[in-house]
Amino acid sequence: MKTQVAIIGAGPSGLLLGQLLSRQGIDNVILERKSGEYVLSRIRAGVLEQGMVDLLREAGVDERMDAEGLPHEGVELAFDNRRVRIDLAALTGGKRVMVYGQTEVTRDLMAAREASGGTTIYEAGDVQPRDLESDRPYVTFEKDGETVRLDCDYVAGCDGYHGVSRRSIPEGRIKAFERVYPFGWLGLLSDTPPVADELIYARHERGFALCSMRSETRSRYYLQVPLDEKVEDWSDERFWEELKRRVPDEVAEALVTGPSLEKSIAPLRSFVVEPMQHGRLFLVGDAAHIVPPTGAKGLNLAASDVNTLYRLLVKVYQEGRTDLIPRYSETCLKRIWKAERFSWWMTSMLHKFSEEEDFGTRMQQAELDYVTGSEAGLTTIAENYVGLPYESLE
Ligand code: APR
Ligand code: PHB
Repeated sequence: MKTQVAIIGAGPSGLLLGQLLSRQGIDNVILERKSGEYVLSRIRAGVLEQGMVDLLREAGVDERMDAEGLPHEGVELAFDNRRVRIDLAALTGGKRVMVYGQTEVTRDLMAAREASGGTTIYEAGDVQPRDLESDRPYVTFEKDGETVRLDCDYVAGCDGYHGVSRRSIPEGRIKAFERVYPFGWLGLLSDTPPVADELIYARHERGFALCSMRSETRSRYYLQVPLDEKVEDWSDERFWEELKRRVPDEVAEALVTGPSLEKSIAPLRSFVVEPMQHGRLFLVGDAAHIVPPTGAKGLNLAASDVNTLYRLLVKVYQEGRTDLIPRYSETCLKRIWKAERFSWWMTSMLHKFSEEEDFGTRMQQAELDYVTGSEAGLTTIAENYVGLPYESLE
């Protein structure tokens, strides 16, 4: 087999890149380890920045998002039994975010790929990128008991944190930066109306809680839990009771509870590798970086990497601008580090780190009091939350 760009991974990064490239006539093949149904069964993030919304429009997958997505002009912080609204639109000159689940984005991208006739090989085993430092790289994989070779010009490693692409870069050629947090998020999805019109990020002495949503009839809630906690120990009743204790009274009173559709625990991590490229391999999205979910940046960062790689490859193929290739990593990393900072900061300010009323706790309280009482503080949250501008390659 032969293609121009071999894409490893059919998560949002791989599917969006493939769709954008196909629309520019750049041939690509996507290799995915799992089945399409499995990819769609993962419940992930739900808030899209304007930049990602625009990129989805450019990819031609905006119809259902516009019909079913919920544009949000604000977000709330809750602490000390009170709520502070951050008016995203007013503080950023009219910017807003779109509440639309990653699962739905993925479903739309899969449908668009099917319609465009692009090749996606699901359940591809033992995917291995090879000869990345030569000008004839290729990828091998197993399909139906046979080893297949896919020759290509470039490889896009869109295979997430556990993928093979990052690991195929020789040790010593990349450096990882990491912070692991001593807690996770227990998430619950339910067909109940959201407790409020906007998202609520709540700091509480029992731990952080988040009230989010997928639609006007489907809610997503999260609780900070210790890392060794087991989902089986959390009945729906226990989850709802704990959530009520962590949010302001008026929110707890308004909460509509119901049976869970899904419950899972995710660890929190900050992680970045530098550089994000090696020879003809480019790392995209979770393959290169992870953020704790507190700022809703994971999916959006993947989209900004896709934006950079897509524009770069279009210039390479349409204008012969191979001089831009070495610029990929540094261009992406500028924006990534800023989003890492924001996600780390929001996590640090809103989670419970210690059992004691210690210095750290007082710093959190003072910081929340300060940022929510100052126009500058609110603006800092708002402009990061709606998404910093995409970096340009030139
Ligand atoms: N070979 C082929 N495919 C692989 C391999 C492999 N060796 N390893 C992993 N994959 C596939 C996974 O099965 C998955 O479908 O790559 C895909 C990676 O998708 P995601 O993990 O969703 O990563 P990405 O596309 O970068 O999406 C951005 O940001 O913060 C998150 O929630 C957010 O998952 C979202 C991500
Ligand atoms: C979600 O709805 O899953 C969600 C929303 C905001 C976050 C994290 C997760 O910061």
